[in-house]
Amino acid sequence: MTHARTILDFGNGFFLRQATQADRPALRKICLETGDAGEDATAREDDPDLIGDIYAVPYQVFEPDFAFVIDGPGGTAGYLLGAPDTASLYARLAEQWYPALQRRVTDPGSDAAHWKGSDWARHRIHNADLTIPPALAAFPSHGHIDLLPPAQGKGIGRRCMAYLEQRLAEAGSAGLWLEVHPRNLRAQRFYTSLGYERVPDVGTPDQAVYFGKRSK
Ligand SMILES: CC(C)(COP(=O)(O)OP(=O)(O)OC[C@H]1O[C@@H](n2cnc3c(N)ncnc32)[C@H](O)[C@@H]1OP(=O)(O)O)[C@@H](O)C(=O)NCCC(=O)NCCS
Repeated sequence: MTHARTILDFGNGFFLRQATQADRPALRKICLETGDAGEDATAREDDPDLIGDIYAVPYQVFEPDFAFVIDGPGGTAGYLLGAPDTASLYARLAEQWYPALQRRVTDPGSDAAHWKGSDWARHRIHNADLTIPPALAAFPSHGHIDLLPPAQGKGIGRRCMAYLEQRLAEAGSAGLWLEVHPRNLRAQRFYTSLGYERVPDVGTPDQAVYFGKRSK
């Protein structure tokens, strides 16, 4: 059955639609359940919401036109998020998003050896790096995609990324980048198969690697 809200119909009950404010709990859950290099991070976190409040929810808040969810027979099974102008989003996050999060959590300090549970997230919230590395300058936009296991391996990711690329190009973007955990080899193979290239000389490669693609 095709729903009125369907943007892309993937078959077998899976479809893409615009995300709404009501999807924020689902965005947090999906982010948590894919947050350990693509695998479930539930056991690692003592505050299950923080990872999604960093990586997923602000996109629906600040870039709602580029925030989508994948619904499936068992409920919401993934999200697709984009920021057409990373610099503009980062400026709004610094002014409007992180100050509110900082009031909610305490910085555990910078000694990672003493971090437990979600301390890495609490530290990041208080020390968010919202600068854009020069190597990413050729790609003004960025995105995130996370699918829960029932939605994986069905070609949904490929179609979602093509849709996001098209929407960003229509908005005038010259290209986008994606951040990937270095242990997430599946995602790295996935982006490579879609024509993304590893962007060298960005950040610390033991924490994150970056893939970029220019708009056609
Ligand atoms: C990574 C992810 C987005 C890929 O989406 P997907 O829908 O599972 O992937 P698809 O089924 O669309 O596969 C697309 C292509 O990627 C490649 N690919 C996907 N999985 C692969 C794997 N395990 N090994 C090699 N290539 C793979 C294939 O070439 C495939 O092409 P094909 O459809 O022509 O066969 C999805 O699996 C996911 O969300 N995983 C968990 C969270 C995550 O890691 N997110 C990315 C964070 S950066």
